[in-house]
Amino acid sequence: MSIFIGGAWPYANGSLHLGHLSSLLPGDILARYYRLKGEPVLYVSGSDCHGTPIAIRAEKEGVTPEAIADAYHREFEDCFTRLGFSYDRYTRTDSSHHRRHVQELFLRLLESGSLELREVEQTYCAACEKFLPDRYVEGLCPKCGAHARGDQCEACQTVLDPIDLLERRCKLCGSEPTSRQTEHYYLLLSRYQEELERYAQNASGWRDNAVHLTRRYLDEGLQDRAATRDLPWGVDVPLPGFEGKKIYVWIEAVSGYWTASQLWAEETGQDAAPFWSDDALAYYIHGKDNIPFHTVILPALLLGAGGLHLPDRIVSGEYLTLEGQKISTSRGWAVWVPDVLERYDPDSLRYFLTANSPEKHDGDFSWNEFIRSHNGELVNAFGNFVHRSLVFLQKSFDARVPEGTLDETVRLELEALYERTGELIEQAELKKALDEGFRFVRSANKYFDTRKPWVAVKKEPAHAADTLYTCVQIAANLARLLSPFLPFACTRLEGMLGTPFHLLDDQAAGAGITEPGQVLSCRWLFTEVPAGTSLGTIQPLFARIDIAQVDVETERLRNALT
Ligand code: MF3
Ligand code: ZN
Repeated sequence: MSIFIGGAWPYANGSLHLGHLSSLLPGDILARYYRLKGEPVLYVSGSDCHGTPIAIRAEKEGVTPEAIADAYHREFEDCFTRLGFSYDRYTRTDSSHHRRHVQELFLRLLESGSLELREVEQTYCAACEKFLPDRYVEGLCPKCGAHARGDQCEACQTVLDPIDLLERRCKLCGSEPTSRQTEHYYLLLSRYQEELERYAQNASGWRDNAVHLTRRYLDEGLQDRAATRDLPWGVDVPLPGFEGKKIYVWIEAVSGYWTASQLWAEETGQDAAPFWSDDALAYYIHGKDNIPFHTVILPALLLGAGGLHLPDRIVSGEYLTLEGQKISTSRGWAVWVPDVLERYDPDSLRYFLTANSPEKHDGDFSWNEFIRSHNGELVNAFGNFVHRSLVFLQKSFDARVPEGTLDETVRLELEALYERTGELIEQAELKKALDEGFRFVRSANKYFDTRKPWVAVKKEPAHAADTLYTCVQIAANLARLLSPFLPFACTRLEGMLGTPFHLLDDQAAGAGITEPGQVLSCRWLFTEVPAGTSLGTIQPLFARIDIAQVDVETERLRNALT
């Protein structure tokens, strides 16, 4: 089955923080897992380079929006690489390729009758001499009376039209805006009400937050939404008479999943069609504030365009808090990814953010928990098992995998672990899958303890050889089972085991799927390293972090508060 994975497109107007990372990481874990399983995978994302925040920031700093987008896009690429994100293509929405394909999609929607031209009153600021973007109109929510922005009331979550706000103000200059007549295309969401209800009804594998919020939007009745805007920065509406108007940034951004797929196909000479057909399984990974864009707007666009597969799984993370408080970029209450990567192993972050993933409810990052979990789970459990086994082999077995017999219980447990964690990963229950893996790691340490090879090796060397033979197989299989989560450590571990894994895989390729021109073998399977294999260079798998770092980091965090 073709697996499509769409990671959310971060706004290129500020650095990534751990909150972003925790909502994006499930995408990479899924992609790595499905590749191991031997399924064709297309995993795409990119930087969201348009939108009002970038334009406003550029204006403030006296630079072009491109310059800002450029700098952050580069920073994102660098961070994702260092974190081991295995996108098949990571692109950007201000590329000419994306713009061209979005315009093409826009025309397709026009042709299919999904867009309608309307004459509308739009908020205009005479002082600033411009139409105001929704979120730059402030006032009181007509529904609950709370202070609200023109796009949405944060207090009651109602989706607003800025024209309906009471006591309106221009956010830029504070004066009272007026309205002007203008023309815009509207996306006829109401036309898709029934189809989307059926779609949401039949959905499976959506996170609860996505099910509930989508239900609410549908129950309230879908409102048609402006698909074009009066903005200086974005994708031009490809129609005469619309000069200066742009395609609504969300419509344009979610289209990126499709445009990036086309780009990948053009660049690699492969076919993107299977990933957009109804034989595909499509995962969409993002934070919960992105839900309606992926469960309502994107599906409506895909239905309007016709012949494109709708999202199957909605993996929408809850929020990550920091030391028990809401992350706030404006207050400086955040741990920034480029900064933290300077000092910590990317796998430690991947481990922590998965083990404490805000899957069902908000999760929390604290330096204390982070460092404790690194030392406790990665160093003391996983690292220790690997190290004591390999050091023993070095000392007593000439750094080779001994002739021995695999413990049958261990084999069965490992086989069951592939199956169980595989199922959990497919359901995007990544925290549970990782927990299962580490439960096994702890039982592996117990196995080593109870078998006492350091005693047996003197009187009963065959017993010790069986133990170490089994430990090597455990380590080798952990290097696979945990690789979607901890790709760097697992690669190091493979190296230490001296395992020509790809050769073993070729032997096992009989179990794989062979299609013309494409040999994919399943590696999500129990594997056995042959006796006699020489180990590589042995090093500790993880370095312990001094617990005093907790204070250093907490201090750093508080000092950064603005
Ligand atoms: N840039 C948006 C955000 O950070 C996410 C866009 S996801 C996309 O919230 F699919 F719409 F691109
Ligand atoms: Zn104004």
